[in-house]
Amino acid sequence: MSFEREKIYITTPIYYVNDRPHIGHAYTTIIADSAARYFRLRGFDTFFLTGTDEHGQKIEEAARKRGKSPKEYADEISAQFKALWDEFGITYDKFIRTTDPDHIRGVQRAFEIMYEKGDIYKGVYEGHYCISCEAFFPQNQLIDKEFCPDCGKPTSIVKEESYFFRLSAYEKPLLRLYEEREDFILPRSKRNEVVRFVESGLQDLSITRTSFDWGIKLPPSINDPKHVIYVWLDALLNYITALGFGGDGRLMDYWPANYHLVGKDILRFHAVYWPAFLMSLELPLPRHIATHGWWTRNGEKMSKSKGNVVDPREVARAYGLDNFRYFLLREVPFGQDGDFSQRALIDRINSDLGNDLGNLLNRIIGMSGKYFDHRIESHKVPHYYGQELQELQQILAPLDDHIRQMRWHKFLDELWQALTLANRSIDRYAPWKLVKEGREEEAMALIALVANILARVALYLAPVMPEKAGQIAKALGITIDPATFQRLIDEGELLEPFTIQPIPPLFPKIDKPLLQEKGKEATEPSQDETIDIDHFLKTQIKVGTIVEAHEIPKSKRLLRLLVDLGEERPRQIVAGIKEHYEPQELVGEQVCVVANLKPAKLMGIVSEGMILAAQDGQRLSLVAPKEMVANGTRVR
Ligand code: MSP
Repeated sequence: MSFEREKIYITTPIYYVNDRPHIGHAYTTIIADSAARYFRLRGFDTFFLTGTDEHGQKIEEAARKRGKSPKEYADEISAQFKALWDEFGITYDKFIRTTDPDHIRGVQRAFEIMYEKGDIYKGVYEGHYCISCEAFFPQNQLIDKEFCPDCGKPTSIVKEESYFFRLSAYEKPLLRLYEEREDFILPRSKRNEVVRFVESGLQDLSITRTSFDWGIKLPPSINDPKHVIYVWLDALLNYITALGFGGDGRLMDYWPANYHLVGKDILRFHAVYWPAFLMSLELPLPRHIATHGWWTRNGEKMSKSKGNVVDPREVARAYGLDNFRYFLLREVPFGQDGDFSQRALIDRINSDLGNDLGNLLNRIIGMSGKYFDHRIESHKVPHYYGQELQELQQILAPLDDHIRQMRWHKFLDELWQALTLANRSIDRYAPWKLVKEGREEEAMALIALVANILARVALYLAPVMPEKAGQIAKALGITIDPATFQRLIDEGELLEPFTIQPIPPLFPKIDKPLLQEKGKEATEPSQDETIDIDHFLKTQIKVGTIVEAHEIPKSKRLLRLLVDLGEERPRQIVAGIKEHYEPQELVGEQVCVVANLKPAKLMGIVSEGMILAAQDGQRLSLVAPKEMVANGTRVR
């Protein structure tokens, strides 16, 4: 596969501003960033777009719950996304917000074009709507006639005047598209599910709403002020309004996009609705919709109420951003779901990065210093190690295609074969022996071979691990840029005589998890998330009487309590209440205790529960039943 032109356009989904950034958002963004960095390094004129999706009922409701206007709320969360990407060094060229005036103008213009063409007509929508997915569903697609087939939440019944897009008219052209362009959807295995969806028949799509206000109004030429444009039509158009569609069109020569990176949950919107809208606008279609899977936690979906959401900032700060990036791309085959665990991350860091890569670099830094005062020349490599150079060529040859097909895991896996080749060559030819036998030239050529392999690995790795690759490059005296890529990789040149610079170890070993496990801590569902009764009932709160209370030596905050919960023996509970209560005043008092918490050690003392207290600023007050009740009574 080759791109006949020099321009590359890559996008992430624009993120809803009802949620703080989490690992799923970071995943899409980091893949897109790695792709953008790769194409830049190959000399392509690359444009990389990300941003936030700010309209719609979901955002309006989330803002209302927090007592904010939708715009105020959107400003706040959009800034959080931008700040995270900036902290992560994401190389986006534009950060679009759907509240940007240019975007609004572009969406109205698109609506107008589709309307004038006859692809939009007015009618009445009657059916179900899932606010969480911002999606319409006919009843026969619902679970138990009520619940959203995508997210499982209850849907609401909507009956309102609406404009419709003639999606049904695009059924055949869409099927032709999937037929003709087998890699339109990546990975290819995802294509069938889209084809099946379209084959089962497309209904016209409701594309305006009247029951709320937070959205883009119809264009003035249509003059129907009750309506706002459906958030998915608004959102998808960001990919062209960002280039100036409906305005100055300044960047439209980046269109069509090469890659729309999306999660599997939003594939349908991108592989069905979006090409249909574009056909209606008579614009070329994107080359690839690249679809990744979902990250789970211990096999479960992440959600705020479960408190198991992985915060990408925390992970990157604890383990290093580049290590995190590597893990995300390497751990899970693109398109499949993956489970996040610190254990798996630590294994990747210690094994792939530390052993295979970091130690290799250290080995040649050490040997080049010991035997050759760090000065190395490559010109004898083909003579002594021609076979290895050939093998290296074979390893590197398919890498470009893996990236272009978004097979990141495979790309990294195969790149690692180059490291295996290097490590194996050292073990096999043992430079220390060669030197002992007076075969210095061969020993130097071997170190040069390994340095040449590492230089190529650094170049290929740079899009994924820009900082670490930069450090490896520095140690080898090269720079990571398109000219070097071309020289070493495309033209197969060997490194000029060079000095290997000692650098500190790149991947210090990690012995144990660096972050406290989420989901085991107390986490509060955010205000816009409700929990069901079963969820609440999982927490066993019981009344008990404090029978003993003791200070804990050296602790300013903690007391050790024995609480009778009507069980065989009183429970030992460590509570952070020393600044508020004297031990003796507590004895005989009833308190409420979370009785089914996993025991935890505090200052070396096992705590078998948690006492409930209300905290009002500096003040703290223990929670108790109004009248005495039997110990062990459950609070519901
Ligand atoms: N606003 C829409 C996209 C509009 S694009 C024109 C949206 N936003 S989102 O914030 O809900 O999701 C954005 C992306 O994050 C999606 O691609 C989604 O798949 C991804 N992820 C959200 N949770 C995820 C995981 N747990 N794991 C991996 N990615 C997931 O949808």
